[in-house]
Amino acid sequence: MGEHTIVVNADIEQATISRYIYGHFAEHLGRGIYEGIWVGENSSIPNTKGIRNDVLTALKRLDIPVIRWPGGCFADEYHWKDGVGPREKRKRMVNTHWGGVVENNHFGTHEFMLLCELLGAEPYICGNLGSGTVQEMSEWIEYLTFDGESPMANWRKANGRERPWQLKYFGVGNENWGCGGNMRPEFYADLYRRYQTYVRNYGDQKIYKIACGANVDDFRWTEVLMREAGQFMDGLSLHYYTVPGVWEEKGPATGFTKDEWFITMRKALYMDELIKRHSTIMDQYDPVKRVGLVIDEWGAWYDVEPGTNPGFLFQQNTIRDALVAGVTLNIFHDHCERVHMANIAQMINVLQAMILTKGAKMIVTPTYHVFEMFKVHQDAKKLAVTSQVQPIDTGDYELPQISVSASRDREGNIHVSLCNLDCDSGANVHIALRGTEQLGHITGRILTGKDIDAHNTFENPNVVTPEVFEDFKIESHRLDVFLPSKSVAVITVEPW
Ligand code: AHR
Repeated sequence: MGEHTIVVNADIEQATISRYIYGHFAEHLGRGIYEGIWVGENSSIPNTKGIRNDVLTALKRLDIPVIRWPGGCFADEYHWKDGVGPREKRKRMVNTHWGGVVENNHFGTHEFMLLCELLGAEPYICGNLGSGTVQEMSEWIEYLTFDGESPMANWRKANGRERPWQLKYFGVGNENWGCGGNMRPEFYADLYRRYQTYVRNYGDQKIYKIACGANVDDFRWTEVLMREAGQFMDGLSLHYYTVPGVWEEKGPATGFTKDEWFITMRKALYMDELIKRHSTIMDQYDPVKRVGLVIDEWGAWYDVEPGTNPGFLFQQNTIRDALVAGVTLNIFHDHCERVHMANIAQMINVLQAMILTKGAKMIVTPTYHVFEMFKVHQDAKKLAVTSQVQPIDTGDYELPQISVSASRDREGNIHVSLCNLDCDSGANVHIALRGTEQLGHITGRILTGKDIDAHNTFENPNVVTPEVFEDFKIESHRLDVFLPSKSVAVITVEPW
């Protein structure tokens, strides 16, 4: 049983944990958009203007701040003009990246903006730099945001939307080192400078422009982009997926071994090193941290579920994924001065999803529950935390057993999120809450599972679900917490 000491310094507020760290990503991939979100107005599945109601209700509980769309690799093949106007007349295309299926373009700009409006989320649109023209990108911005007389604004009005939308975030290409054009950083940096010039700010809109950033540990990409184009961007992205195995054989989403559990934890923790190293390069060009590191694709990536289309990236989601989510969000908090946004891949039915659907049925995943439990950190002030955490000895390497983060929200509540990364042993965690007056009411919630691959199914949707957590004692300003193995908990201390 590990013994751990943590000090939460309630009188040392650090940066704000941007709510945009709790962002999502929804790509035209597999059953992510079609079936997962869009069923169409004539569907027997209850919907709001084509968007399924059960999914909307579940997503609303997450307070989703931002959604990235339409890709991913799909973004650099997407031609937005095919996705506006009367649906029955929209062009059908092949989704060459993802399963070679027909994309009927029924979910386009208007439908995406409606989804964002219904959820109260900001749109983050990723433009096509790989196979699209500067004019096409520029006209998309005009269509979305121009309030006046112009060809694109007039077309938008003719398509039923009089007022322009507010567009906060725009990405200039996706993975342009790979599926978005196989470019060198020097070439992309120049193209980025050119394309972003025509991402105009109309009226009082101020678009936050995001340049395509590095693949995992390609530090040279970050160096070149910051040097050559840093002054023209507000954010630079980073993509990193937690893959327990190798790319060709990633490992199963369920039925995995303990070794695979620990490897997954180790690889999730690698996010910390990646952020530190990319940030160090960014600091040289931008010491005041004006440019955000936008981790707009992250999450666990396993082999697809047996019998499903390999191009659809459909995977189950277990308590292991809950740990990946909890650990990663705690890491983002640690770096919130530089990490302005993050978008988990992906929202529904794809990779580390919040929600899985099967026809009219819907379940929420362990990852969903972590996002719901952790939402108390959104826009809260990060508190300084020091810790003495004992390692887990896996035989081959050591891992910290506990991941922790703390924040204070606007009402003065202190929230401490804790993860026990060990799938075998519980942990005694002694938390000193210093720098506060008397402590108010203390409550907790916990997510755990009996088996290492505990997960929800359509038959048993509540196998992994948050419960009230009371396994702690309060001694003056110290909380003695017992965290069971493979668990994620959030403890809230109200002000006195
Ligand atoms: O999220 C799935 C894919 O992963 C995205 O389309 C791409 O950007 C990344 O390689």
